[in-house]
Amino acid sequence: MPTLGYGVFLVSPDECERCVTDALGAGYRLIDTAQAYRNEEGVGSAWRKSGVRREDLFLTTKVWISNAGEEKAAGSIDESLRKLRTEYVDLLLIHQAYGDVFGTWRAMEKAYRDGKARAIGVSNFQAGRFFDLSHYVDVKPMVNQLECNTFSQQTGIEPVLNEFGTKMMAWYPLGGQGSDGIVKSDALAAVSARYNKTAAQVALRWLTQRGIVAIPKSSNKERMAQNIDIFDFTLAEEDMAQIAAMNRHDEGTRNFGDPQFVKYLIENYG
Ligand SMILES: NC(=O)c1ccc[n+]([C@@H]2O[C@H](COP(=O)([O-])OP(=O)(O)OC[C@H]3O[C@@H](n4cnc5c(N)ncnc54)[C@H](OP(=O)(O)O)[C@@H]3O)[C@@H](O)[C@H]2O)c1
Repeated sequence: MPTLGYGVFLVSPDECERCVTDALGAGYRLIDTAQAYRNEEGVGSAWRKSGVRREDLFLTTKVWISNAGEEKAAGSIDESLRKLRTEYVDLLLIHQAYGDVFGTWRAMEKAYRDGKARAIGVSNFQAGRFFDLSHYVDVKPMVNQLECNTFSQQTGIEPVLNEFGTKMMAWYPLGGQGSDGIVKSDALAAVSARYNKTAAQVALRWLTQRGIVAIPKSSNKERMAQNIDIFDFTLAEEDMAQIAAMNRHDEGTRNFGDPQFVKYLIENYG
């Protein structure tokens, strides 16, 4: 799996093909989409037209809550493959820890064994839910995609991920759309000045140096290029430590145990 990828959350279906075309042109080879983003077709069209060989591409998609359960999830995986115009995805995730997750997982294990998914994992599974699923299933989740950035560092879940050999992937690596807290942070600006890099680059580099895969989104070609240009410098230990001190809410900013949040997801994303 590439260390750095490109995410397409909140990229409209119309714009998605253009964005993914630009991202592939900028050198990204990991593209992260989801059934709930409603833009898998744009991802599929962009890579088909790009000339990038399938074996050089790493495609991730996620099964949404409304497709939970063994039978429905299986059908939705086939539908995602059709939209992405591919015979397999490189990584398939359960998007949220709600609904019949064990049924969904059985469909995902089957997709894995049938070669429709090269790797399977979860997203937004906090430590307890993650342990519960991982303990009882045959194929252990290979990835847990979580909100993870300089303000929400997810250090608490690391031991339980390590117990199952699960890799962390970071969503909101820059703090998400409409939030400029990370890219405008004074603390990161001070560090980035020492390396002649931007705060966004330092935030992404810090994640990759922790061994976490980051999938920043940008609709802008220059920022896409900036975000992938993080492999020509190494943050010194004292800078890694300074950034570690920025942690504000280790488990992320969403309260996954709040019924109102679950209702919000179901009502807004189907
Ligand atoms: N599993 C989940 O539940 C979940 C949830 C959320 C996200 N994700 C995944 O994670 C990906 C990344 O998360 P995200 O898109 O929400 O947030 P993000 O990547 O943390 O932030 C994106 C925002 O940062 C801006 N930006 C990008 N590069 C920048 C730079 N170099 N300098 C300044 N601003 C910059 C973007 O604006 P411009 O576009 O104008 O550059 C956009 O507003 C998503 O696309 C999706 O694939 C997964």
